[in-house]
Amino acid sequence: MRALQFTTYGGPEVLEWAEAPEPHAGPGRIRIAVRAASVNPIDWKTLSGAGSRGEPMTGTGYLGFDAAGVVDEVGDGVSDVAVGDEVLGRGQHTQAEYAVLSSWAAKPPSVDWAVAAAAGVAGETAERGLRLLGVQEGETLFVDGGSGGVGAAVVQMALARGISVVASSSEANHDYLRELGATPVLYGEGVASRVRDAAAGPVDAVFDVAGKTPVEELVALAPEPSRVVSIANFTAGEAGVRVTGGGADSRPMEALAEVAGLLADNRLVLEVQTFPFDRAAEAYRLSQGGHVRGKLVLVP
Ligand SMILES: NC(=O)c1ccc[n+]([C@@H]2O[C@H](COP(=O)([O-])OP(=O)(O)OC[C@H]3O[C@@H](n4cnc5c(N)ncnc54)[C@H](OP(=O)(O)O)[C@@H]3O)[C@@H](O)[C@H]2O)c1
Repeated sequence: MRALQFTTYGGPEVLEWAEAPEPHAGPGRIRIAVRAASVNPIDWKTLSGAGSRGEPMTGTGYLGFDAAGVVDEVGDGVSDVAVGDEVLGRGQHTQAEYAVLSSWAAKPPSVDWAVAAAAGVAGETAERGLRLLGVQEGETLFVDGGSGGVGAAVVQMALARGISVVASSSEANHDYLRELGATPVLYGEGVASRVRDAAAGPVDAVFDVAGKTPVEELVALAPEPSRVVSIANFTAGEAGVRVTGGGADSRPMEALAEVAGLLADNRLVLEVQTFPFDRAAEAYRLSQGGHVRGKLVLVP
């Protein structure tokens, strides 16, 4: 099979779409024939060697953390899916012709492969952050960075729970945020006062998706620091903010079931731009630029 891969840390120019060993589904896992796999910022962060503490690479690196496809191997202990089922989910090394998933949900038949693939990381992250915030129906949430992959999922999943949403983006994405059902504000200096003006009443919780606004400003918007969650500012914990990177905070199967249900009902609509796998470098460059609306997805 072919997989996106790299043998030296670097930028999108070091990516290769080339032959690779086939993975197999171990216990509690499934393997899919990949129909689409999304690009997330973690992909180019991994490619750059950001997590390697300066150590050189040993062996070949593979990329991709979510995908959608057709089940073709079922590991021991898995009973909720069978070979031939169409699923979306999360895993590792998903930007390949075959990939192993560690969590999944049935793909709603009405949902495109690319949209289904886009929902894994973004949807699970959105569900996790909203649950950690404990934000309830009738409350007001500020989403800092509402127009990207995770942000658009947070906005729509919050609205589906009856939460009012104020969200930040560049001016160019304000109509998009309005279409999703949020009240848009411009990000950058002075964002907190724009949020106070835009919210009909107090802000009850803040979901920091972008990690760009000084955390003190976000904390000042919320009733208390614990009602701020960040997925992108890993020093925000010093201000009492809940920082989450997944791990023990995740309930991926529950999250993906919720995401699939919302996709089926058109209450979660993900805008996607697709690229063939052999043009992955273009998608990575766009993602690195930091101004993608919705999601970038690779397809065979
Ligand atoms: N901790 C976790 O578990 C976890 C999980 C997933 C993602 N992440 C991290 O979360 C971040 C967002 O991920 P993503 O997939 O949503 O990325 P993305 O799709 O690339 O997000 C792009 C969006 O960010 C917006 N943006 C750029 N500068 C901004 C600013 N100063 N303030 C607010 N928004 C701004 C852009 O809006 P405009 O186009 O309007 O400028 C664009 O729509 C990344 O750092 C990613 O690594 C963490």
